[in-house]
Amino acid sequence: MLSLLSLNKKYHVVFNDYYRKFCAFGFFVYLCGLKVTKTIKKMKIQIINGPNLNLLGEREPGIYGSESFDSYLEQLWTNYPDVEIDYYQSNVEGELINKMQETGFYGGYDGIVLNAGAYTHTSVALQDCIRSLRCPVVEVHISNVHTREEFRHRSLISCACLGVICGFGLDSYRLAIEALLKH
Ligand code: DQA
Repeated sequence: MLSLLSLNKKYHVVFNDYYRKFCAFGFFVYLCGLKVTKTIKKMKIQIINGPNLNLLGEREPGIYGSESFDSYLEQLWTNYPDVEIDYYQSNVEGELINKMQETGFYGGYDGIVLNAGAYTHTSVALQDCIRSLRCPVVEVHISNVHTREEFRHRSLISCACLGVICGFGLDSYRLAIEALLKH
């Protein structure tokens, strides 16, 4: 009877020891997994262009240049292989807001680069939307709006954005991406 008890106790000790080692190993594997996921997780940036910016390259080339956004986007993808850069354009205010919410509230994006076009100067709805997002938004303009007509000097969205970049042509978008990467 005594030897049976001591055998049982011994068995428990051995079992507990294995069990503890097994748990420790499992936890180690879990931590490694977390580290790997964190290391390989690409930063996600959404570029959103507002009204009339689908005509870039052809629209008022003296102000906005002669390069299409599609060809510029290819350069961004090439120059930032470690960043996921997605692009969306719409001429419709509500669709811009839907996209901002989809990416900046629900989508887990790390930042949004927004050229709201003329809605910059008129849209309270866009300002409210930017305020409600979980990720920072950088406002960009291709032209230097402050050297143009007075109505372009006022932005209704700047106050809700992380910062504003304007006047550097299409390079404004790259500068905005840089700002988000450093943020
Ligand atoms: C713009 C400037 C706006 O005033 C204008 O309405 C645009 C483009 C820019 O990128 O320079 O559509 O946002």
